[in-house]
Amino acid sequence: MPQVLVTREMVDEAMHALEGQCEVDLYTGPPEAMPRDEFLKRANGKDGLLTMLSERVDAELLDAAGPQLKIVANHAVGYDNIDVAECTRRGVLVANTPDVLTEATADLTWALILACVRRIAEGDRFLRTETPWIWGPRMMLGHELYGKTLGIVGYGRIGQATAKRAEGFGMRVIHNSRSGGVPFDTLIAESDVISVHAPLTPETKHLFNADVFTRMKPTAVLVNTARGPLVDEAALARALRAGEIFAAGLDVFEREPQVEKTLLDLDNVTLVPHLGSATVQTRAAMGLFAVENLLNGIAGHRPRALVNPEVLT
Ligand code: DGY
Repeated sequence: MPQVLVTREMVDEAMHALEGQCEVDLYTGPPEAMPRDEFLKRANGKDGLLTMLSERVDAELLDAAGPQLKIVANHAVGYDNIDVAECTRRGVLVANTPDVLTEATADLTWALILACVRRIAEGDRFLRTETPWIWGPRMMLGHELYGKTLGIVGYGRIGQATAKRAEGFGMRVIHNSRSGGVPFDTLIAESDVISVHAPLTPETKHLFNADVFTRMKPTAVLVNTARGPLVDEAALARALRAGEIFAAGLDVFEREPQVEKTLLDLDNVTLVPHLGSATVQTRAAMGLFAVENLLNGIAGHRPRALVNPEVLT
């Protein structure tokens, strides 16, 4: 039987799909990512790794795993945790789970947009303090979306699904991506809501930084459901505190799972723990997709979502 390491328990459907197919070494430790030394130890001798976005797969890990490793199947569409070039050099397949999480992530993006413009989390926190209040014309005012501009940074599947939903809110949509759209400077100056959907690369790290915040509208909202390091969190906290922008919604964090401390006492930021794909339906689809990729890779077949097809040529 092939040996595989699964770095965090998946939903039942996906765990069952592994039964009888391979010998599974399942990490069931505390909710933090598997400690690095344990990952290195347990990867050794495995034919396949089914990894989460929090596990770093690099040359050191590939050395520790050994030459029989055939595939790293990431339980995510993003694969910035994997050194793909190093895997390719060693003939190790890398697979991901695109498409199945597009709609769920676009929904969560809108949940954050609405929470930011209408101060939903702030209102909820306020009521829980049992502070006396009464309806008033000046109370907790937000901003309307109708007729405003949504700027999408990164116009792939999730960016486009997010854009589609803007029609229902009567918004104008502009976008900026590697392949086109408006210039980034135009987007940040004209948008009332900016939603980030670009992949994390050395070029996109801190794409949103202190300088960019000063060039956004003071009424603007920034939402990030892509990868944390695209936003300089400490600079964001300063911009939110100074009123340089109106609000922010974050699903992902620069040093995930840690959250920048200076964000925590700000009312104009809504924080959720990387929930973009967290629906019953999507997590089943992601898990089954990752397992399918893993089993195909181990069996010497081409995984359906192969990141580095050059390995097979
Ligand atoms: C991904 O798949 O890359 C998301 O961030 C987690 O669902």
